[in-house]
Amino acid sequence: MERTYVMIKPDGVERKLVGDIIGRIEKKGYNILDIKMINPTKEIVEEHYEEHKGKPFFGELVDFILDGPVVGILAEGENIIEVVRLMVGNKDPKVALPGTIRGDFANTTTMNLVHASDSVESANREIKIWFN
Ligand code: CDP
Ligand code: MG
Repeated sequence: MERTYVMIKPDGVERKLVGDIIGRIEKKGYNILDIKMINPTKEIVEEHYEEHKGKPFFGELVDFILDGPVVGILAEGENIIEVVRLMVGNKDPKVALPGTIRGDFANTTTMNLVHASDSVESANREIKIWFN
């Protein structure tokens, strides 16, 4: 069993897609272990996106997440990390396939509704940041 961290970004909350996104994870058969709505601090957002520090979009990305609130979800299931990434879809709206969350609902790269851990290491790191 694997655990992953999924986060509904402020645009997903604003657009009332929380139920849809959680519903997709549940209907796929995964277990939701914990959920919380958070108004994150700058420190936590910068730590979460540490790998992107220094990139041209970093400041805009952090400000966007800081608009808050976000919904943090801790979910569990077999191969959940890889499968939820598939369900989220590509960050490029020209590449994200219909049927994925981003493919169905997002049309920009920054405001793309949802984050999901991309590896076991990232999942462990992110779960510690958001759920400890
Ligand atoms: O979220 P994902 O792991 O699919 O993509 P990423 O490459 O790790 O980028 C993290 C987040 O940064 C994206 O989901 C976008 O919100 C944002 N981003 C952006 O605003 N502009 C870019 N050129 C690349 C990423
Ligand atoms: Mg990423």
